[in-house]
Amino acid sequence: MKRRPIIAGNWKMNTTLNSATTLVNELAQAINKKHVQAEIVICPPFPFLLPCQTASANSVIKLGAQDIHFEKNGAYTGDISAEMLASIPCQYVIIGHSERRKYHHETNAIINKKIKAALGSRIQIIFCIGESNTERETGETFNVLSTQLIEGLKGLESQVLPTTLSIAYEPIWAIGTGKVATPTQAQETHEFIRTTLSNITSTEVADKIRILYGGSVKPDNAKELLSQPDIDGALVGGASLSVAQLLPIIESI
Ligand code: PGA
Repeated sequence: MKRRPIIAGNWKMNTTLNSATTLVNELAQAINKKHVQAEIVICPPFPFLLPCQTASANSVIKLGAQDIHFEKNGAYTGDISAEMLASIPCQYVIIGHSERRKYHHETNAIINKKIKAALGSRIQIIFCIGESNTERETGETFNVLSTQLIEGLKGLESQVLPTTLSIAYEPIWAIGTGKVATPTQAQETHEFIRTTLSNITSTEVADKIRILYGGSVKPDNAKELLSQPDIDGALVGGASLSVAQLLPIIESI
């Protein structure tokens, strides 16, 4: 099954208006000169989504948000709904990032509601899952990942998933640490994720869902990771804040 790869940049809580628009504009210009195979998604902080869209107009870059609230609107001070994002329009949203799970106590049940909200607004989802260091060391990785998948995707109509959902496997111990999963470790885990997805949905549906790897992806490790059969792209944090680092990752597809 041929799946179009995605390279998504997660800027997290970084940049200012000026540095965000400069960065996305430089990336757009650099990409426009190349024949880029992958779908490129940039996820800036909320206030810079619209300015970044303007700064990257006429390029293939798509914009994504880093989170949403599961309600459409209402008394949720400081939150942003899928409907608001769709009205920009913003095409993607990251849901269930381990930093949201950790600092905002997001459970699988909350993440499930957010996924449903994004689906209802036709925003593409990058659904993050991943195990901690202790969970890997105690042999719990596959249990943790299957629970995150089963509870996160509970009650969803499986036929709509391949066109709206991507999974990002991000081992927590590899995020921002410089410790990257080996290509073999990553491939083995992605294969497990695909098998779990086929149990939840069907082999046909699971074959179409893109599974990205995230966690310390850099120019020097991207090619080997991205050449694994079940790795369909990357969710890039730190390295997405520099065109000099992100471009070679994009080109390694
Ligand atoms: P990193 O972050 O590339 O800086 O490790 C990845 C992520 O958290 O999405």
